[in-house]
Amino acid sequence: MILGIETSCDETAAALVTHEGEIRSSIVSSQADLHARYGGVVPEVASRRHLELVTPVIRDALEQAGAGLDDVDTVAVTAGPGLIGALLVGVSAAKALAWARRVPLVPVDHLHGHVASLFLRPTPLEPPFTCLLASGGHTLLLDVRGRGRDGMRVLGTTLDDAAGEAFDKGARLLGLPYPGGAALDALAREGDPAAYVFPVARVPGLDFSFSGLKTALLYAVRGLDPAQLAARRADLAASYQRAIVRALVERLEAAGSGTVAIVGGVAANSELRSSLPDAVAAPLPLCTDNAAMIASAARYTPAASDYLTLDAYASAA
Ligand code: KG4
Ligand code: ZN
Repeated sequence: MILGIETSCDETAAALVTHEGEIRSSIVSSQADLHARYGGVVPEVASRRHLELVTPVIRDALEQAGAGLDDVDTVAVTAGPGLIGALLVGVSAAKALAWARRVPLVPVDHLHGHVASLFLRPTPLEPPFTCLLASGGHTLLLDVRGRGRDGMRVLGTTLDDAAGEAFDKGARLLGLPYPGGAALDALAREGDPAAYVFPVARVPGLDFSFSGLKTALLYAVRGLDPAQLAARRADLAASYQRAIVRALVERLEAAGSGTVAIVGGVAANSELRSSLPDAVAAPLPLCTDNAAMIASAARYTPAASDYLTLDAYASAA
């Protein structure tokens, strides 16, 4: 089995996945509560927490799978992009395990991991397909021709904020705790999406832009006194979400016909999922960061030849 390890942001995760893509266990320990009081992820706080959690989380993954380290023949780890100090905790743990057990170590790109969440059993998706990867840090439209990282070609990306970032910033303006995407999704269900018109910037090609939208919400919120704001919060959430979802759906449609898939934290959004009834969506627990997707990507990635010198990278390579 492949042991996957993911520590790129504020989730400490480990999973055991077979080489055929069956998930035997997947443990995700979120630090969101720890960072909520700061309104966002504090990198140094995240690194320290990963250090405390990485070993127990790997133990839990082994236990849940009813396995021991003897059953692990490959270690896979997110090497980037992400918070460098956070990534280094996972990479160091992976090196130690690979060295101690004399097994290969596979460095995985986090974005490839999100796409590879679609290659797991019981319903592995066969390329080619067009993939929207929308998370807290990235918004990418990808042409996926193969399961390896070199099978993905970028068709469009965000010029400013990521879609998840737009959700989180909007949620904050509406007084919801960090990370607010899921909470905004829930609040929007009680509101009228046509109550406000939030225009989404039209940029050329297949790129995205969300920063103007956040400013539009800011002005709408500022124009209300506290009582009015309390009364209109759900309408604001619904209208704001509608604008983000419209922008994402429009771009996916503009990218052409054929199979469409959505992955990443924002792919958990209920309106996005219902707006794309024919799209293949990653199962909810595999949308947000997890290690099963990292182990899955490792199935299509060569092992590092000299893994003890392996380094993490912060920005997309
Ligand atoms: O993929 P992910 O766990 O981490 C990154 O790689 O960034 O994505 C996290 C992002 C956050 O911005 C979070 O607010 C957003 O996904 N998110 C959602 C929902 N669930 C998570 N956004 C909208 N609706 C949701 N239901
Ligand atoms: Zn992610």
